[in-house]
Amino acid sequence: MIRIQDVSKDFKGKLVLDDISMDIRDGELTVIIGPSGCGKTTTLKMINRLTPVSKGKIFIDDVDIEDIDKVQLRRRMGYVIQQGGLFPHMTIRQNIEIIEELEGKPKEEIMENTVKLMKMVDMDPDEYLDRYPTELSGGQQQRIGVIRAMANDPEIILFDEPFSALDPLTRIALQDELVKLQSQVGKTMIFVTHDMDEAIKIADKICIMKDGHILQYDIPEEILRNPADDYVANFVGVNRIWDSPEYIKVEDFMIRSPITCSGELNAKRCVTRMKNHHIDTLLVTDTEDKLLGMVGRKALFKSRNPLSRADDIMSSVSYTAHPQDSIVDVLKMIDEAEVNNVPVVDDDGKLVGLLTNSNLVSTLSKQFLLENQEVTEEQEDRKTPAENEISEESEVSLS
Ligand SMILES: Nc1ncnc2c1ncn2[C@@H]1O[C@H](COP(=O)(O)OP(=O)(O)O)[C@@H](O)[C@H]1O
Ligand SMILES: [Mg+2]
Repeated sequence: MIRIQDVSKDFKGKLVLDDISMDIRDGELTVIIGPSGCGKTTTLKMINRLTPVSKGKIFIDDVDIEDIDKVQLRRRMGYVIQQGGLFPHMTIRQNIEIIEELEGKPKEEIMENTVKLMKMVDMDPDEYLDRYPTELSGGQQQRIGVIRAMANDPEIILFDEPFSALDPLTRIALQDELVKLQSQVGKTMIFVTHDMDEAIKIADKICIMKDGHILQYDIPEEILRNPADDYVANFVGVNRIWDSPEYIKVEDFMIRSPITCSGELNAKRCVTRMKNHHIDTLLVTDTEDKLLGMVGRKALFKSRNPLSRADDIMSSVSYTAHPQDSIVDVLKMIDEAEVNNVPVVDDDGKLVGLLTNSNLVSTLSKQFLLENQEVTEEQEDRKTPAENEISEESEVSLS
């Protein structure tokens, strides 16, 4: 684990990092993101002692990095920078192998390792190893930059905006490769970027910095769902969560108080309740809110006996969702099962909400409405909470 503890940094009296603390767990890919000048590069440089801290301490596995020999420390960390940082006068092979050579690793092992690394990033060793960096495209150079940082199998790899000079397609391809590599090698990675799309795509955890402070340090899902303040919310972007629909949970958009009835309610009263609430389905629950079944308009019509009980005419519920399911799961289920209403049931089998086709549609459409600003904030504010959740086509509605 890397522990940054109460670290401050000033350059000639100018405070650029103000008492930051964070723990980075082994095997995690942590992204540090923030506007230019907020202290990202300085943070990386302090971790491998390219620049000293002014105050506070940094530990690796509980050892103060000041107590580790600088050269030893840096060999335990790969470093990838924006322009690849490859040595222009060395071939690709020499670039990759230089640290291993310095470490005196047997030649054969080194060569074997180089071929393995080239294959990891889908580059043909025979074709590229004898070329010079300028004979490679920007994307290829960055691939080499990444595998060079991994060549001597360091515990930690630091990345300082490694993909920011690349064209968007190459960049996306390299992000995919990095995620794949990370899952294969499981190294501790700290990745600096100022691109939120990139952060959300690759990060296990995201640290958002501004003016030498950490504003929020959490898993991407939490940052998207619960930004710490307006700055983070703006930085993340209002509609960002829609780019990651797997983070939108059923509990975020379900109707929270669906209309229910007990099993003994008779058909006549079921009809009255449905009429009063402008709905055509009642959810039948027991005294502990456990979901027993559903009574729909058709079942009532078929029963014809006004005194028959809800639990006699109800149908069983074959599809339910869990509050933590994602909107993606639910859409799939609705699609496959061709159901209109999906009750939401918690771990104890208690009914906690309801999804209807129309509230799904209105949830999904919010994305487009917000993006096109068709609904102004004022208009949104004027809506009552009920209006936000009930729509006329709603087959099942709430009180
Ligand atoms: N060697 C230095 N001397 C003086 N100021 C520096 C030095 N390195 C960085 N800074 C200042 O520290 C702040 C943070 O820089 P940096 O960590 O490079 O930001 P980032 O990587 O987030 O863009 C900036 O205001 C920058 O000008
Ligand atoms: Mg920087």
